[in-house]
Amino acid sequence: MAKYRIAWLPGDGVGVEVLQAARIVLDKLELNAEYLPGDIGWDFWKTEGDALPRRTIDLLHNVDAALFGAITSKPVKAAEAELDPQLRGKGLVYRSPIVRMRQLFDLYNCFRPCKAYPGNSLNYKEGINLVVFRENTEDLYSGVEFAPVPQELAEMLLRLARPFAAFRNIAPDQYAVSCKINTRKGSERIVRAAFDFARKFKRRKVTIVHKANVVRATDGLFLETAKAVARNYPEIQTDDANIDAMTMWLLKNPFNYDVLVAPNLYGDIISDLCAQMVGGLGFGCSGNIGDKLAVFEPTHGSAPKYAGMYKVNPIATILAAKLMLDWLGETEKAGIIERAVADVIQEGKIRTYDMGGSSTTLEMATAIANRMEA
Ligand code: IPM
Ligand code: MG
Repeated sequence: MAKYRIAWLPGDGVGVEVLQAARIVLDKLELNAEYLPGDIGWDFWKTEGDALPRRTIDLLHNVDAALFGAITSKPVKAAEAELDPQLRGKGLVYRSPIVRMRQLFDLYNCFRPCKAYPGNSLNYKEGINLVVFRENTEDLYSGVEFAPVPQELAEMLLRLARPFAAFRNIAPDQYAVSCKINTRKGSERIVRAAFDFARKFKRRKVTIVHKANVVRATDGLFLETAKAVARNYPEIQTDDANIDAMTMWLLKNPFNYDVLVAPNLYGDIISDLCAQMVGGLGFGCSGNIGDKLAVFEPTHGSAPKYAGMYKVNPIATILAAKLMLDWLGETEKAGIIERAVADVIQEGKIRTYDMGGSSTTLEMATAIANRMEA
């Protein structure tokens, strides 16, 4: 029996291609693993009304980790229109399967390292090495949303929240409400994950990202909880910043920052910015990490316009596989991947289109795999 059971979830569009690329690298490493394919994505929404079918959830309960490609998402009405005619009108609602996986399996820690590999002409500046910890299960992603707004909810809000008076005379289908829900537990564990990481890897500073000056209840709770956690790590410098200012300062002085921790939506935003500073989405990798399961993925989407063309850069996914190996405790093999990626970038001969070259997805993967021998 193989040492590891890994769910293999290509999903849609270029997800299929980048996972194929990651497999070239993993096979070269001779990781003692069994890769178990799982159904996920738009095709299953269209034919079964569920982009994350029950059998895939069952599979995920029985693996050590998962590697996930990408998923196509469309707005509510477009999604309904593509459903098999027999499934229409049954109240089926499309929800992003990656967001569902994060919530179903309590993958609360979204870990997004953003490192500028030397010699990558896409680096915003050489030497950037930021790590984003994004809370991954709550906040504006809680899924508690109303459109149209039920009368009952409107009446209650009017009773309980004075500012709601400004919305009192709006027809139910003329506005919408999305709840931002943040818990102390959720805030505490993501901040702890960020500080534990900083301690383990001797990082100098953790910055708490929020908007507590305006979004007082939820971000206030996040900031207060984070500051309390920080007191347990006196050797690590701590500061905090509003999300809007943070985006400017990050661009202005990227070297003033090190580890960033944020609630879900701000973490989503800031991690795209950090990925862009180290070469763009072709280099952005993530781990969605829980206590029992972790799902690793490139941060980019399914890029439908490139699907089937084997053009996109697989480095994000190969680095996601590297994060998976770290998480499994295979740090030596993880290091081999990272060094090979760094060497191929530095050498600059094999470059995908985003890097100004014309190498294919699989040529890049093969170059990295070959480099692992050296
Ligand atoms: C990400 C993506 C997802 C998110 C989308 C695809 C639902 O942007 O992983 O950052 O918003 O979390
Ligand atoms: Mg995102």
